Amino acid sequence: MSIHIGAAPGEIAETVLMPGDPYRAKWAAETFLDDVVQVNSVRGMLGFTGTWRGNRVSIQGSGMGMPSLSIYANELIRDFGAKTLIRIGSCGAMQEHVKVRDIILAMTATTLSTPSRGIFRELNFAPCADYPLLRRAADAAGSRDVATHVGGIYSSDVFYDERPDLNDQMTRHGILGVEMEAAELYILAARHGARALAVLTVSDHLLTGEALPSDQRETSFGDMVEIALEAAFES
Ligand code: HPA
Repeated sequence: MSIHIGAAPGEIAETVLMPGDPYRAKWAAETFLDDVVQVNSVRGMLGFTGTWRGNRVSIQGSGMGMPSLSIYANELIRDFGAKTLIRIGSCGAMQEHVKVRDIILAMTATTLSTPSRGIFRELNFAPCADYPLLRRAADAAGSRDVATHVGGIYSSDVFYDERPDLNDQMTRHGILGVEMEAAELYILAARHGARALAVLTVSDHLLTGEALPSDQRETSFGDMVEIALEAAFES
């Protein structure tokens, strides 16, 4: 047990998928894993462990935003020995050529600040994905009927943004999409010798205002979960 994860020692796998939404953790575990056991319910932040093609894997909700993700990622790595952490989540597209339902594999995550800001101070650390995970995810996505983009994303501190000029600069500099968690996940993985990747489904579009209808969310999110699982385990 750790402070925010009620699992017993050994109940969490070395590979953990991390959706922001705890109910999406439940849906993904029940849909894609075998022999599923619920291992966490503290604060409703559901976590599950099961197997995928014989490989042990956990799916633990992270909550929204980097401070929340930081709590769960820290405890997963330091208290439960997680070694591979893959965020599965949604993002808003920031480029015309990126469409709703597309998948983004986040090679880097630009931020204004993260919970690690206090460590880096004046240094602009460059949070980046684990390359073998990224390459395998790109291969897995390439064999599916889903448009996939690999590149930089923006991990914002706010959903309701009062600085549209920053989004404009992100678009101008080729950033593919915006979400709120990946940068700190990459920083924590780097700090603790783990590996991390964010596989994101585009749920809305900042330039066109389009949004994924709720009845189409599950199939799009299913591709993302399978890409993350295929990336995590060598076939
Ligand atoms: N902003 C931040 N996070 C998000 C968004 C957004 O527009 N869409 C999905 N996650």
